[in-house]
Amino acid sequence: MAYLITNVSVLGAEPRDLYIDGGVIAEHKGEEPDHIIDGTGLVALPGLVDLHTHLREPGREDAETVETGSRAAALGGYTAVCAMANTSPVADTAGVVEQVWRLGREAGLVDVQPIGAVTVGLAGERLAELGAMADSAATVRIFSDDGHCVADPRLMRRALEYVKAFDGVIAQHAEEPRLTEGAQMHEGEVATRLGLTGWPAVAEEAIIARDVLLAEHVGSRLHVCHLSTAGSVEVVRQAKARGVRVTAEVTPHHLVLTHERAESYDPVFKVNPPLRTPDDVKALRAALAEGIIDIVATDHAPHAVEDKECEWAYARPGMVGLETALSVVLSTGSLEKDGEIDWDLVAERMSRTPARIAGLTDHGHDPLPGAPATFTLVDPAATRTVDPVETASRSKNNPYAGMSLPGRIVATFLRGEPTVLDGKATK
Ligand code: DOR
Ligand code: ZN
Repeated sequence: MAYLITNVSVLGAEPRDLYIDGGVIAEHKGEEPDHIIDGTGLVALPGLVDLHTHLREPGREDAETVETGSRAAALGGYTAVCAMANTSPVADTAGVVEQVWRLGREAGLVDVQPIGAVTVGLAGERLAELGAMADSAATVRIFSDDGHCVADPRLMRRALEYVKAFDGVIAQHAEEPRLTEGAQMHEGEVATRLGLTGWPAVAEEAIIARDVLLAEHVGSRLHVCHLSTAGSVEVVRQAKARGVRVTAEVTPHHLVLTHERAESYDPVFKVNPPLRTPDDVKALRAALAEGIIDIVATDHAPHAVEDKECEWAYARPGMVGLETALSVVLSTGSLEKDGEIDWDLVAERMSRTPARIAGLTDHGHDPLPGAPATFTLVDPAATRTVDPVETASRSKNNPYAGMSLPGRIVATFLRGEPTVLDGKATK
């Protein structure tokens, strides 16, 4: 099928036509397309890339599957997602990562790039078969025990050394477990008032500080998952200034929600790392704009009703985020220049840089003639009220319910084929 998109602004530039045929973008030379999309008022971006998605398959298909999570991703403007390893069984062997990769191909909605576990069963005791996962059909390049911290410094060092051979990266969930035992929310005045055990900022900052030193010592690549505190920003800033090979992500929810939300005792706001203070939010936004934080990653964490609609202390941490990520980021105003959305910066933080970190060479290309037709069309003037029930995800743990957010994904294309048209999934 050939598509003509008329009068569309590529990354905020003057409107033009784009012709899509054979999986690539071409100049329109008068050919008759099969479909015409009126791009007036729309912005074309390289397809978004999520470095941190929980798809729950295998094991918790009641919460999400590779297919339902992929559909939610496409609806959010994503063309690739990296699937975290904390499935059941854990993605710690070539067999499991190949299974996830194959399920992603079968769904065909986004490229699903499996992340492999660092340690066997995420238990933090023995290194998993990193080489076998790297050599598998899934060609794993990112390893993470996300959900758990690789707390043992010797294991962390060995993991960093191991992945150097194939330019892999260790993505750390930075949480010193001895400092967060029994923790329910951010350690601070709100936790004190509510009588809930606190998760102190230093538990994150101490691990990041240790890991940048280890990465520096080994000369290897470290990626820090879901940075959540102002102090973490400063640790990463100093490491980057020294030339350490470190990258960092922030989630949409840590850019807008704060620990006061726990006052509702609604577990939809329970997440790990926890929602922090308004000052942390301010620092994270500034760091994202500046580039100390390299990317936005969703940490899309779907959970079944029984795991979320219960007492705060028993609820699982995590919130869905794929379908709202771009809107939430736009709502912060962090990626603006002179009061206007800086689309080039949006592309940098949500597509090009995550694609580069993950080694996804098909992604992160500006939608211009000669590039793969892997892009998304956004209507920046639209607003929408978030309805947690109206979702492609199997889970409804959406913390933005009822919020009015800017921007709407109109279409998403993966290698020339639409996965979303008119705001609806094509399959
Ligand atoms: O809130 C979270 N949920 N943080 C994590 O690190 C894991 C994730 C999950 O798997 O639900
Ligand atoms: Zn995590």
